This record gives sequence, C-alpha cells and structure tokens, in this order.
Amino acid sequence: MKTPKDTALLFLKNNCLLPEQIDPDAVLDDFLVEMDLGLAGEKSSLAMIPTFITIDKPVPAFKPVIALDAGGTNLRVATVMFDGEGNPKISNLTKHNMPGSAGNLGKDEFFDKFVEFLLPFADKADSVGFCFSYPAEISPDRDGRLLSWTKEIQAPEIVGEFIGKNIFDRLEQKGFRLKFSLLNDTVATLLAGKSVDFAQKYSTYVGFILGTGTNTAYIEYNRYITKCQGLDPEGSQAINTESGNFSKCLQGPVDIEFDKTTENRGQYGFEKMISGAYLGGLCLLALKKAAEEDLFSRAGKEWIKSREDLSTVEVDGILRDPSRGIVGGAGEVSAEDKELVQYLCSAICERAALFAALNVCAAIIKSIGGKLSVHPICVNIDGSVYYKIVGFSRMVEGYLEKILGPKQLSYELIRVADSPLIGAAVAGLMC
Ligand code: BGC
Repeated sequence: MKTPKDTALLFLKNNCLLPEQIDPDAVLDDFLVEMDLGLAGEKSSLAMIPTFITIDKPVPAFKPVIALDAGGTNLRVATVMFDGEGNPKISNLTKHNMPGSAGNLGKDEFFDKFVEFLLPFADKADSVGFCFSYPAEISPDRDGRLLSWTKEIQAPEIVGEFIGKNIFDRLEQKGFRLKFSLLNDTVATLLAGKSVDFAQKYSTYVGFILGTGTNTAYIEYNRYITKCQGLDPEGSQAINTESGNFSKCLQGPVDIEFDKTTENRGQYGFEKMISGAYLGGLCLLALKKAAEEDLFSRAGKEWIKSREDLSTVEVDGILRDPSRGIVGGAGEVSAEDKELVQYLCSAICERAALFAALNVCAAIIKSIGGKLSVHPICVNIDGSVYYKIVGFSRMVEGYLEKILGPKQLSYELIRVADSPLIGAAVAGLMC
C-alpha cells in the first residue's frame, strides 16, 4: 500500500521540488560564474553591486548616529553609539510599517513617510546610516538609486529614484541637513559581524540574510570589479550580490506557476524558492496542485481549497505539529492527509535550506579568492526564516559542512542581534 511518504515523493519528484534533484556542484559553479560575469558588467542574473564600503577603518566611538532600517515589511529608526570596546548602545527605537508594504504609494507620499519617521531624530546626530533592504545601485557618495522593488512593495514611482537625496531635500526644506549613507541590509549584516570581532580574528566577512527576502554580501578585491573604472586596485570593498535574483536553479512547474502570482514576475526566482515572503505561498500552491491530482481525501482537499493564503509562519507550525498547524475547517482531515501536507512542506523547506547553503558557500569561496587563511571567515547570518523555521539552520549548517568540509575552508557562523541597525550605524559613522 502507498504511504503518504510515497505519494509525496512522487509528486515532489514530478515537480522538481526534491532537494535530491539538485546537483550542488553544478549550482555552486553556476553561482561563481554568474558572480564573475556580474563583476565584469556582463550579462548575469547577479547584479554584483559595488558599495564603496570598506572594512579597514575602525568604528568611531562615542559619536551618535541615526540608524534607519527599512526592511521587508517593517521600518525601524534609532540612535546608536559605540563605546570604546565597540559595543553598540541603541536608544530611542521607533517602529513603523515599511511605506508601500500595505498598498500603493506615490512618490511624495512615500518619501514624506520617511521624513515623518526621521523628524523626531533630526537634532540627535549629523548623519544617518540607512539600511535599505532592496536592490539599489550605490553611488560613490553612498546614496542609492532603486533598481526594482522586491518583497511585494508597491510604490512604482520610486524605481530609478535616489533614496537618500529625496529624503535629504525634503528634510532640508524643514531646516535639517543630515548626511545619508545608504547600504544594503546584507552589507549592514557583514559590517555588524566586523563590529564584534574584538575577541576573534577573522580573515574576511560575509553577510547573509534569509528573512522576508534573501541576499548575500562579501568583500571583493577592487581589481576584480572590472566593470568599475578608477578603483584603487590594491583596495577592496563590500559587494552586494543581489543573490535573490540568481536564475540558474532548476525551477519546476510549481515554481513557474507561482512566479506568475507575484509582483515582480520573471525576476528573483531564487528568492521565491527560499525566502519568507514566498515560502508559504509556494507550499500552498504545491498543496493545491497535489489536491487537484486527488492525492488527498475529500476533507483534506476541502481544507486546502478553503485556504486563500498560507504564511511561512504557518508552514513552520505545520512542520512542528501538523495536527495543530492544520486548523480551520479541518475537523475531518485524516492523519494521512496531515502527514502528506507535512511531507510536502518539509521537502520544500529542505530544498530552500540546500539553496541557502549553496548561496553562502558561493560567497565564502568567492570572498577568499581561492586563497586559504589561518583565520576563519566570519559569516554573520540574519533573518527570520533562517532562525525560526524549525530545523532550518541545522539543515543549512549540515549542507555547509558537507560542501565546504572537503574544500578545507574554515568559517564561523555568527549571529549579531539587530545586525541591520548596527551595520547601518557603522556605515553612518564612517561617512
Ligand atoms: C532584496 C535585497 C535584500 C534581501 C534581504 C531582497 O528582496 O532584493 O536587496 O538584501 O531581500 O532583505
């Protein structure tokens, strides 16, 4: 007799959703090739954005800075000051919704929101470190021009705009002149790793985020960033890879159909396979497809049909305990149905963990440029999917060991609380 596991395996295989269907070496090679092409300014799914942020200067102590963290759906503002030992003190923290995360906003409405959030801080420091968690091209003066929205933000008029300059101009009209330093959240995470390296010496730094969206940043030698003219060839800087747009992964029918339901269709396919804004929706679509193939009993089918959405947090609930996770009109859902739902969701999450690990591996391998060092590489990881989905971080760590172990690369995974805010503060102080 067919068990729920057998049924799940066949469905997953037919839809290319099984982690075993991924060839890790091939994906890793593709990542590295796309990274090189992006650095050379050639056609690549990886934007490889130079950030003009270096890690060779110490962080100024006892100087306040405004730190702004515009993340997936939340926005936080605070003042931050580092003591003589590099310990940050966060004060006056305020939290808001990210403008454009709950309905469409025009240009003025969008930027006016930022002004409103920043005004209470405008006399507390001279500069703002602005952690901006969306793809932006960074100018040498460290402003950022939005390339496209991700994470389902709706504010189309902002694409192509300089974020810092727009807010600066509006604040100036109100009598405040704040210097903005804009950086991606993975770069902020990388810098936050650097800010805590008093106890341990690291050879270099990687920032990895897996929350609402996903991305990696690492340190690259300027001489390899051949698309930029005039960089000091002896220097190095952080690169925002925008790895969420990586396009060389095998996508199955469910991935392809799911993409059609998203705001930025045809883009950020990798992010849609692994990050929190999408994992729940992807799992629900897989369940709906399986229900169409009559893989569930009637009650199971009814439950799936009744669901218009499924959040990534709910997927975590199903992985932990399907009896409690499958609620709402689920009185009759059989144990077999629940088991099948759990198998399907857990395979999709495990595939996400393998992809996440491959992304981190690529950043680690690329950041040492093929050289081995006596000190480990510091990988600072941030994000709710990585830490909150049951078993996720363990799976990623297992895959990392399996892939990097034989390559004899020494790395250390760390977690710094409030990385985006801390990293933003570091960048704001160094401008
Ligand atoms: C954005 C990146 C960001 C990542 C993690 C993605 O959607 O494109 O810029 O770093 O999410 O927040």
